[in-house]
Amino acid sequence: MAKRKTVPDFLKMKTDGEKITVLTAYDAAMAAMLSAAGVDMLLVGDSLGMVVLGYDSTVPVTMDEMIHHASAVRRGAPAAFILGDMPFGSYQSSVRDAILNAGRFLKEAGCDAVKLEGGLAVCETVTGLVRAGISVMGHIGLTPQTATQLGGYKVQGRDIESAKKMVAEAKALEAAGAFSLVLECIPDELGKIISEEISIPTIGIGAGVHCDGQVLVTHDLLGMFDKFIPSFVKSYCRLSPQIQQAVADYNREVRSGTFPDDAHSFTSQTGLRELLGLSGTKA
Ligand code: KIV
Repeated sequence: MAKRKTVPDFLKMKTDGEKITVLTAYDAAMAAMLSAAGVDMLLVGDSLGMVVLGYDSTVPVTMDEMIHHASAVRRGAPAAFILGDMPFGSYQSSVRDAILNAGRFLKEAGCDAVKLEGGLAVCETVTGLVRAGISVMGHIGLTPQTATQLGGYKVQGRDIESAKKMVAEAKALEAAGAFSLVLECIPDELGKIISEEISIPTIGIGAGVHCDGQVLVTHDLLGMFDKFIPSFVKSYCRLSPQIQQAVADYNREVRSGTFPDDAHSFTSQTGLRELLGLSGTKA
């Protein structure tokens, strides 16, 4: 089994210019496949709410739901570095609540670190978590939990003022103790500047090629979530139509009596009816 990566490994990867791959995982089976394929970090993202639980946004996701899924991911990928995404409402009320909830990811689900959204407003919380011994990944740019305040799911940091603010937020999160930073949906040049200005790894999603690593929602990468596909998503395959075709084939074969055939049945000895003392042949 491969050795589990650590926070210093990711800092070294940035220093060495080695790109970091991150993908979301929500269950044991998928986590096992992603880990076997060599992904560097698994994020149990609150995108869970939209791609698995059928909510319209990430806001309704609860701590209990996150712990349930993060525990499954850990069971499926014992050697993976796993991040638990702090859901909306689990860290905003107080540093104490944030420590208690983040602690659940580590104690109950076996996560290695947590991620939370926000800039200057969460720096005190990040410091509190790090002091409590919990590694934290920040997340700025488009922050889906507060998308309504940002005017919806759209590119952030396009004008000079907001770009300046984002560089300041990145530096403040680094100073607060974050070990890494997600940059979501920002111009690629801004992604490059932030990556150059801070010494912790940046993980981009719609933030250009110059980030120190990339993250995608696995269901988007695999073409399994058609409800909303952002333009920065690259689907490496289209599983959704393949799954629907496989299920249609199954329906047809069951209904026509061609499944299960002999190869998928336990054939019994001939004359079983008689051996069981039952007479006649039932249709
Ligand atoms: O919840 C999530 O999947 C995320 C990633 C998109 C970064 O926050």
